[in-house]
Amino acid sequence: MAISYRAGLALLVLAAAVLMASAADPDPLADFLLPGLTGAEVTGANFAFRRLDNVTVPPGQGSATKSANAATFPAVTSQGVSYTFIDYAPCGQNPIHTHPRGTELLFVVVGQLYVGFVDTNNTLYATTLNAGDVFVFPRGLIHFQQNTSPRKPAKALAAFNSQNPGTQRIGSALFLPTGIPTSIEQVAFNAKASTIEAIKQNFPPSGNAVGTEKTGCGPSGFFP
Ligand SMILES: *[C@@H]1O[C@H](CO)[C@@H](O)[C@H](O)[C@H]1NC(C)=O
Ligand SMILES: *[C@@H]1O[C@H](CO)[C@@H](O)[C@H](O)[C@H]1NC(C)=O
Repeated sequence: MAISYRAGLALLVLAAAVLMASAADPDPLADFLLPGLTGAEVTGANFAFRRLDNVTVPPGQGSATKSANAATFPAVTSQGVSYTFIDYAPCGQNPIHTHPRGTELLFVVVGQLYVGFVDTNNTLYATTLNAGDVFVFPRGLIHFQQNTSPRKPAKALAAFNSQNPGTQRIGSALFLPTGIPTSIEQVAFNAKASTIEAIKQNFPPSGNAVGTEKTGCGPSGFFP
């Protein structure tokens, strides 16, 4: 059957739209998949991840996380979901980052967070969340969370629609020694090499500095 150029083009556009709409983790091909285990070896305990909330922020660091994803919790393999629990130090931040393969739903368990993301039009969407609130970070967009309290910790639970959403920290990618060369960045940022080098020199190896009352805990250093 011969199809016209125009009909062919329409079909191509439709196929591309369908592909884009399904560009997430693939659907499961079986009830479940536990790599390395045969059916008879699997028990209920294999579907449990214990104490996801057992996270302690190391001194001098803004936040720490524990993730139940395909790498740490094989039961989510092929299920298209994962969790990350986040503990924030006072004035602590989950520094600016992106998840290339997952949309994130963040639930605040304890405390108050100032959160936001920037879209591809460089518009910032930010707000303050309290315990019990939920925020969605669209897939792939650059985002952050900041504990607004200089005295109290905060905790949150992040759900992802991917077994392996991936995390890329912007500061680490730019300023850790293995990041992009200064010669590239001085052009990109229209800054002196010495300015870039100064940031690199003070950039913490953890990629996760903690704020203070002086540097601020919120959008303009506000404290609740
Ligand atoms: C929490 O994690 C630490 C190690 O990170 C471990 O020593 C401790 O036993 C854990 N606590 C619980 C209640 O699981
Ligand atoms: C992009 O941002 C500009 C303002 O910076 C605004 O005028 C424009 O409507 C925005 N476009 C979209 C698609 O949001």
